[in-house]
Amino acid sequence: MSALPMKVLIVGKGAREHALAWKLAQSPDIEQLFAAPGSPGIADHATCLEQIRVDLDISQRPQLEAEILKLRDFATSAGIDLTVVGPEAALAAGIVDRFQEVELTIFGPTEGAARIECDKTFSKELMASIGVPTAAHRSFDSSSEALAYVHEHGAPIVIKASGLAAGKGVTVCHTEAEAVGAIQQIMDDRIFGESGAQLVIEEFMEGEEASLFAICDGERYVNLVTAQDHKAIGEGDTGPNTGGMGAYAPASVLTPALIEQANEQVVEPVLTEMARRGSPYRGVLYVGLMLTAAGPKVVEFNCRFGDPEIQVVLPLLRSDLLELLLGSARGDLSQAGPVVLDDEHAAVCVVMASGGYPGKYETGRAIEGATSTEDIVIFHAGTARQAERLVTAGGRVLAVTAIDTDIPAAVQAAYGAVDRIHFDDAYWRRDIAHRALQRVGTGAA
Ligand code: AMP
Ligand code: GLY
Repeated sequence: MSALPMKVLIVGKGAREHALAWKLAQSPDIEQLFAAPGSPGIADHATCLEQIRVDLDISQRPQLEAEILKLRDFATSAGIDLTVVGPEAALAAGIVDRFQEVELTIFGPTEGAARIECDKTFSKELMASIGVPTAAHRSFDSSSEALAYVHEHGAPIVIKASGLAAGKGVTVCHTEAEAVGAIQQIMDDRIFGESGAQLVIEEFMEGEEASLFAICDGERYVNLVTAQDHKAIGEGDTGPNTGGMGAYAPASVLTPALIEQANEQVVEPVLTEMARRGSPYRGVLYVGLMLTAAGPKVVEFNCRFGDPEIQVVLPLLRSDLLELLLGSARGDLSQAGPVVLDDEHAAVCVVMASGGYPGKYETGRAIEGATSTEDIVIFHAGTARQAERLVTAGGRVLAVTAIDTDIPAAVQAAYGAVDRIHFDDAYWRRDIAHRALQRVGTGAA
């Protein structure tokens, strides 16, 4: 057991990692925070190691593996007590395995356990083997068989690249022609590279989506607050999918009874089965659920925190995040104190993006007015410093998060903050939390 206070290292550079840095900085037991590569927002809380590019995409796996080894050298020489991994690519490239080999403590699943997100064929087979409710599916290695299956089953149908595709590998197809196009792009044109060598075709599930988070130690788990994401670029959930344009928490559509059902039918059997297969699951298990008429079903698992979901989940965690992440990383959550969730507040996050995202967009635009307060936290998703000026540097630029007494108040506060921020050609959705507001309107919140 390391002595307190501790040195903690965060892997990543997005708004998710900014939220982790913001929350960890509140821990009384942290002496120093580092982030690799970090960002101008993260730099408010941590020393950034900008030259260590552990944020690379999985398509650059050899370079990413080399950066991971560089970071491991840093962690060893700086005496880092805990490393917290944000992005899935680093997990898929085995960062946890490499750090554990030299007895560094690190939060996240091993490469083998991260397959729950990074290999959809594995994840579907795992669910089928233990009866976890999910869409019926089949995996294919050849486009001709996949096309024949689509012609047999018709639309609506869902086509997924089996490997990682930065959130863009899924097409919900409303016509057979769309499905044929998606199969050809993934398998024949390889628009996602080797992530499309295998393909999963799923039954279309109808319902409302919500995210459930379980921090796991290989055996035990605790839940964080539930959240709902807004993946589509356009209002009313229209247009292409993005990394996420906003989120709110708690997601009251996931009632306590549904949370219990999802824990019993999904989280617990998955933990037991992963341990039985010799890959005990440590880290956060992010369960994307579809609340269908037949009960909650798994849309997908993620092996890391959701972005922008974590930006609304962490502000509603009252207890110490460091203790929780350490408990998971050490394989013994019973060492961590009880998790206390804030049930007197709600949080809403509105993502401000560069006009054109998720397609082509410009960067380098000056950002004005992005100042956080106690109740409004502006997490940086894609920003840079240019001669002391804060400028845009990505598709998603800022995740503007408000914490207030309930969802309607937090929505109002978040949009008030968005109105005080300016950069040229900024785009944001004006209907974040619309489902929750509708439920309030009908008295069902
Ligand atoms: P995924 O990356 O697997 O989460 O998929 C991205 C999005 O596609 C999900 O958030 C859903 O909105 C949608 N989706 C995925 N699978 C299905 C399915 N079987 N039925 C309906 N919608 C789905
Ligand atoms: N917001 C969706 C994700 O993080 O996968």
